[in-house]
Amino acid sequence: MSVAALAPAAPLSHPAAQALISPRGEGGSRAGPLAPVAERAQISAQLLRPQAAISPRYFYDQRGSELFEAITRLPEYYPTRTERAVLLRHARAIADTVGTPGVVIEPGAGSCAKALVLCRLLRARQYVGVDVSAGYLQDAVARLRTALPALDARAVGGDITAGIQLPPGIAERQRLVFYPGSSIGNFDPPAALALLRHMHALARGDAAGGAAGGGLLIGIDLPKDRAVLRAAYDDAAGVTAAFNRNALAHVNRLIGSDFAPQQWRHVALFNEADSRIEMHLAACGPQSVRWPGGGRDFAGGERIHTENSYKYPLPVFLDMLQRAGFHQPQAWTDERGWYALIHARA
Ligand code: AVI
Repeated sequence: MSVAALAPAAPLSHPAAQALISPRGEGGSRAGPLAPVAERAQISAQLLRPQAAISPRYFYDQRGSELFEAITRLPEYYPTRTERAVLLRHARAIADTVGTPGVVIEPGAGSCAKALVLCRLLRARQYVGVDVSAGYLQDAVARLRTALPALDARAVGGDITAGIQLPPGIAERQRLVFYPGSSIGNFDPPAALALLRHMHALARGDAAGGAAGGGLLIGIDLPKDRAVLRAAYDDAAGVTAAFNRNALAHVNRLIGSDFAPQQWRHVALFNEADSRIEMHLAACGPQSVRWPGGGRDFAGGERIHTENSYKYPLPVFLDMLQRAGFHQPQAWTDERGWYALIHARA
């Protein structure tokens, strides 16, 4: 494996950060079509709950995806570079444990950047990236093919929890499901367990009759010093704050609401009882928000809950893996014990 492939991206420069977080179009232009009726109803119902909420999926429009990329390069946001360091530090042991997979399947593949590193390390022959954002994924898979011409790389639009159809000719044996980035932490524990069960079925090839040798390689963020955690989700440059507020601009476009994002303050706190970072948006004064068919008045300081990011102690997560049907887990961590990459057999 080339070490260059694992080298961290250049840190986010301050001018770049400032350009990204400046409030361009933060209200959200109404030019595009609204979301389908069912989705609008769902967003509106969440906003009208006693504890208003916006699903973290609404962080990721075009600007939100750019802001998230910027977050991964922030000095305070350790998970991305720590995961890379774990992979680099334990590359040989990971390759020996995982073996050569028949196919690497990556739910939520996004830019496929981590797939490039992993497929190179494991000398994978086939790769299937799965993502709800099919157009973005097609481009990413095309870049992966250019970088690794011997890799049979395919893109599948969809969400594995809704059941995906793999393309014809995908290996049935030795399937490796790859779920890096600690994204499992953004699901509440019952939903995380359900997702792991879907991954277990995918790794075993249950839809194709079930074959031997499959497994899962997953990244999880571990509990650590509270100040480190809080800083990672409330950086000095304000990129995470802009990322959080951008969900309001996105929702404005989807349901036609009139949130004023700059009137909402970013809040990141560690919930000790649930071992999770919570992100909220707090109203900077009374806010009256309207959208076609609905609306809500928020008191000053009232919050909208936008994200949870669970930090599982390793034994708790290993127990969850076992309950999802996985066995023989093997975990690798960085020297500070901040992050773990785990392989388990299906
Ligand atoms: C995508 N996910 C793993 C990130 C996290 O750390 O929970 C999302 C994020 N939210 C704020 N910063 C990053």
